[in-house]
Amino acid sequence: MDTVLLSDRESDLIKAAELIKSGEIVGIPTETVYGLGADASNEEAVAKVFQAKGRPADNPLIVHLADFSQAVDYTKSIPELAYKLAERFCPGPLTMVLPKNDRIPMITSGGLDTVGIRVPSHPVMHRIIELSGCPIAAPSANTSGYPSPTSASHVMRDMSGKIAAVVDGGSSEFGVESTVISIEGENTVRILRPGCVTKEMLSEICGEVIIDHAILHELEAGQKAASPGMKYKHYSPRADIIMVEGSLIGFIDYVGENYGDGVYALIFDTDREGFPYRYMTYGKDSSEQAHLLFQRLRELDDIGAEKVYVRAPSPEGVGLAVYNRLIRAAGFEVIRI
Ligand code: TXA
Ligand code: MG
Repeated sequence: MDTVLLSDRESDLIKAAELIKSGEIVGIPTETVYGLGADASNEEAVAKVFQAKGRPADNPLIVHLADFSQAVDYTKSIPELAYKLAERFCPGPLTMVLPKNDRIPMITSGGLDTVGIRVPSHPVMHRIIELSGCPIAAPSANTSGYPSPTSASHVMRDMSGKIAAVVDGGSSEFGVESTVISIEGENTVRILRPGCVTKEMLSEICGEVIIDHAILHELEAGQKAASPGMKYKHYSPRADIIMVEGSLIGFIDYVGENYGDGVYALIFDTDREGFPYRYMTYGKDSSEQAHLLFQRLRELDDIGAEKVYVRAPSPEGVGLAVYNRLIRAAGFEVIRI
């Protein structure tokens, strides 16, 4: 099929919404990353999403709503804490896992009896949800395993010929996917995937915020994942990614010892002066690193990088989200200097 590139004009958003209503799938911008949107209640449409991405059937899709008040229509119960969190963080880059009702088919929830609910803040995504009048299931719009797309051209690259349309809403503001949490008891949440709603921000509302072990550690054989997405290799470009933790001097020495054809470094802006090897930079603080990381991983592939040594960010605040994506891209290989 021909994949149409749509703009963010109202007439094009109406087209996108019509396509979704009629069971097609469309690449849509959000404030985190681009998503592959389908009517969450239409099993055939959702099946097309899994197929276009090459996504394992047990990995559930997040359901996007125009307003958190609509969550009652798709869930069995909503704890008080969820409402408090919604008041502070919705719309925005937070996904809450809640018990689902029958209006969310099993294919959408990957066979689980829960559903991840998110209210995106991106005006284009918001408008498409409103116009379509349906809950929109949307995973990141990348081929499964590859870095998530943060621009319409990334989506075209991965999905051209496989989906009906892509809506160009500019570059994604945050650049990493939403924070995914589950609610455990009256005042406790567990972070299943870190994002730009940080542990520190959640702690302002919740008594306790647990960081799930799988965020920084590889699951052992037979261990059950709290979030199925954590089982799979993720965010990996074709190049080999190696994370290096420690001082800049140690990093430069290490790259030097391992330098050769196809080797690149991915460093902080502040490391640039006099850096002696081929490199790209990805910002000066964690927010910029989050914004740029996936784009840089794709660019490194485009220029033919084979091995990339990455300066590891410190895993605090938004840095935890960046660290989590990198450690997965690196297949949990971290060099400590
Ligand atoms: O920012 C985002 O969340 C983007 C944009 C498009 O909204 N979407 C996104 O979706 O990142 P996806 O499918 O690429 O990642 C969703 C993650 C997966 O790791 C999945 O396993 C987890 O959320 N997840 C979804 N529903 C879940 C559930 N009911 N229980 C546990 N984990 C869930
Ligand atoms: Mg994804």
